Amino acid sequence: MPSYPVNKISTPDAQLNILQITDLHLSTPVVSTADDNDEDSTKNGEVTVCQHRFESVLQQALSGDIRCDLIVVTGDLVSEVIPAIYDHIFKVLQATGIPFACIAGNHDVTDERGSDLPFFQRELIARPTDSRLLSQHVIESDHWQVLLLDSSMAGKVEGEITPAAIDWLCETLSACDKPTLIAVHHHVIPIDSDWIDTHMADNSESFWQHMAKFEQLKVIISGHTHQEQVRHRQGVSVYSTPSTCYQFKPFEDDFSYDTNALPGYRWLQLANNGKVASWVERLDT
Ligand SMILES: [Fe+2]
Ligand SMILES: [Fe+2]
Repeated sequence: MPSYPVNKISTPDAQLNILQITDLHLSTPVVSTADDNDEDSTKNGEVTVCQHRFESVLQQALSGDIRCDLIVVTGDLVSEVIPAIYDHIFKVLQATGIPFACIAGNHDVTDERGSDLPFFQRELIARPTDSRLLSQHVIESDHWQVLLLDSSMAGKVEGEITPAAIDWLCETLSACDKPTLIAVHHHVIPIDSDWIDTHMADNSESFWQHMAKFEQLKVIISGHTHQEQVRHRQGVSVYSTPSTCYQFKPFEDDFSYDTNALPGYRWLQLANNGKVASWVERLDT
C-alpha cells in the first residue's frame, strides 16, 4: 500500500505514466465499494451516478495495457464538503495500490446552496479544505518532477495562482531543472467559453510571466472546465481534462452541459528525454 502523500517515484523503464482524473463531484450517499470486509463502511444507500462513474473510470483505466505509475486527482473531488465522502474516495484510491495525489478544486472549499437555481444565483458558502488535499507539493521521479498547486479560494468559483504560490514555483523550479509538470485545478489559459473563463485562475498572466524563464516546464494539467482542450504557450502544453462524471459544452459563452460527452480521463506518458504524449479516453458504455 503506497504511503500518502507520495514524494518519490521510480519506474522500471524510460517513462513515467500518469493517470489524471478530475472533477469527480461525489455527493452523499456514499456506499463503500473499496473493501467489502470493512465493518465501518456504509452499507446503506444508493450509489450516486458520480460515484459509479468515478469507480468505473478508475477500473477501466487501470485494467488497460498501460502501467500506471501515479494517479493525479485535480480537484472537485466532491460536490458537498463532507469528510465521509473524502474517506471513501481515499479508500478507493488506496485500494488501487498505486501512488496518488489529490489537490483541491472550488467545490472542495465551497458548498453551493440552490443547485436547482441558475448558476449565477446560487449561494456560495466557504468551507475548510480537507487536510488530505495537497498544496505546494513536489513528487520527484528519476527524470521528472510533478508540482501540485492549490488554486482554490474558499467561497469562490474562480481560483487564484497567489503570489506566494508563484514564489514557491520559482524557488522549486530554480532548484531542479528536471522536466516539470504542474497540476492545478483552475485553468490558466482561457478556453473560449465566457462563463467558465470568468472563473479561471486569477493572476494567470503574472504566473505565465514568471514561468517564462523556466524552459524545463513542459506540461500543465487542470480540471474545472469539464472538457478536453489542448493549448500551447511558451513551449508548454496545457491540457484540460473531462470530468469523470459530467461535461460542459465547449465554446459556449453561457453555462451549458454537454450531455453527449461521456465521462473521461487523461493519460500522460512522460519520457526520460522530456517528451510528452497525452490523450483522453472515455468511459465505455
Ligand atoms: Fe468541477
Ligand atoms: Fe471546479
